[in-house]
Amino acid sequence: MAILPIVTYPDPVLRVRCAKVEAFDGQLQRLANDMIETMLAAPGVGLAAPQVGVEQCLAVVDVSVGKERAALKVLVNPEIVDERGREVDTEGCLSIPDLTEKVARPTVVKVVAQDLTGSAIEIEAEDFEARAICHEVDHLNGVLFIDHLRGLRRDRVRRQLKKLGRS
Ligand code: NI
Repeated sequence: MAILPIVTYPDPVLRVRCAKVEAFDGQLQRLANDMIETMLAAPGVGLAAPQVGVEQCLAVVDVSVGKERAALKVLVNPEIVDERGREVDTEGCLSIPDLTEKVARPTVVKVVAQDLTGSAIEIEAEDFEARAICHEVDHLNGVLFIDHLRGLRRDRVRRQLKKLGRS
């Protein structure tokens, strides 16, 4: 396993709509393992393939940051098929360091995806885990959490990114 360099904003790979994974092979397994190691080392609660420069629909989420094995989710070709509720809470992104903002997300999501062998899986997640999954699925569509901001929050983030020399 290896810790991979994390791509940061405004790298254009973060704006790509990722391709569906078609090959469930050893290379995919290695990429997933490296992404898990990279996420935990950061440390972060989620990481999507474009954040390590790979334009494929693969994301890893672990809201326990390595403390509970059952919390680790590997999502291949994930799709949010149902969502309920709405909650505003603070969010950040490993690709936009030093910046957090309040973002509205559903409180419960149902996700269909595949595992690393290609088998179909279905996950229902709530609260912080639902937020993390929404954030990572967004990444696979080239969407960043700052895109959800409106009005004063959006203006504030634009100023901050400018100050950090990133826009
Ligand atoms: Ni992110």
